[in-house]
Amino acid sequence: MIGFSERLRALPGYPLAEIPAIKRRLIERGMDVIDLGAGDNDTPPPAVAVDAMTAALRDPAYSKYGFQQGLPEFRRAASHWIERRFGVAWNPATEILPLIGSKEGISHLPLAVINPGDVAIVPEPGYQAYLGGALLAGATPHIAPLRADRGFLLELDDVPAATLDRAKIVFLNYPNNPTAAVAPRDYLERTVRICRERGILLCYDNAYCDLTFDDYRAPSIFEIPGAADVAIECFSLSKSFSMTGWRLGFAAGPAPFVGALTRVKSYVDTGPFLAVQKAGAAALDRAEELVRPIRDELERRRDAAVAALRTAGFTVESPKAAMYLWIPLPAGIASATYARRALEDFGVVTLPGSGFGPAGEGFFRIALTVGADRLSEAAERLGRALEATRRGALATTA
Ligand SMILES: Cc1ncc(COP(=O)(O)O)c(C=O)c1O
Repeated sequence: MIGFSERLRALPGYPLAEIPAIKRRLIERGMDVIDLGAGDNDTPPPAVAVDAMTAALRDPAYSKYGFQQGLPEFRRAASHWIERRFGVAWNPATEILPLIGSKEGISHLPLAVINPGDVAIVPEPGYQAYLGGALLAGATPHIAPLRADRGFLLELDDVPAATLDRAKIVFLNYPNNPTAAVAPRDYLERTVRICRERGILLCYDNAYCDLTFDDYRAPSIFEIPGAADVAIECFSLSKSFSMTGWRLGFAAGPAPFVGALTRVKSYVDTGPFLAVQKAGAAALDRAEELVRPIRDELERRRDAAVAALRTAGFTVESPKAAMYLWIPLPAGIASATYARRALEDFGVVTLPGSGFGPAGEGFFRIALTVGADRLSEAAERLGRALEATRRGALATTA
């Protein structure tokens, strides 16, 4: 009998894990299912990326191991994009690192800083790779609840001093998944200050920095003075360019932090496929023109979904960024019960807030991954699902 590790047993169930099977069963029964679960947009990847990838596939040089150095052209494109986008300069050879999707880099990063007994500060609700990476590295997670009345900001001031003393890494993600919150500059300043005082590595997950609406512009953590003493930033091509399945992202930051992650990765992977890096370089070189239509479409979807959800009886804020709506449920309705009802009886895949940890209870998330008409249809069904769940809750308490 093989005994599994404490680390493995500590990992909670992955929230998206059971949805595909339920969805398949419903579709086989003839149900029209609207999937607003995963943050995987229905828009195609850019033609320049597809063309670059196709050409690279015909050149055997791109079929070689990339190793951590990868394709210098991709590192340069990433560095130039950061400079254009945020006005921050990084050396492509030592301060940029290609990732097999940003999830890979984020989840491996704790291995570079965690010793037994160390704490990793993890937002909840939050992207699962933070908790997973922390647990797999043997860290003691400190769960920091993101509260609606605090703008869903992870406040290090709220963490007990003794825990802060043991903390080696904190994960921040703004624009945020799942809450769609954005971080004001003064918040980032005080967080950087505390990380510097306490010697905590700040992993700034900026996967949604391009998906911003109205006049909002998402900053890099390195626009904050002093951040270079403590931070590393992770970017993704998944959301900005609708390239989720290509698995490409990159880390950026001071050479010691990027170098530490490189060292970890050199033992666990051999870098993203070079042809994918070639395609990523082509996309990054034209980021401004390629991202605009994706952002405009998401903004239209946000407006349609918010309006339709309000009509359907929900109280929902119109977010400034990301690709999600984080929607409060009326008191007394468990998010898992509601999400199951919405899927099984009304054919809408959502994610229950509790799937992001107990602090996510009371909310559910939808992703703006289908067109405005389908979102409006989904909102109407979600309203009916709410009524049905309420009636069910009344029936069980009666
Ligand atoms: C907050 C956040 N960070 C990172 C990622 C991972 O993106 P990638 O596809 O680059 O691994 C996601 C994906 O959903 C995300 O929501």
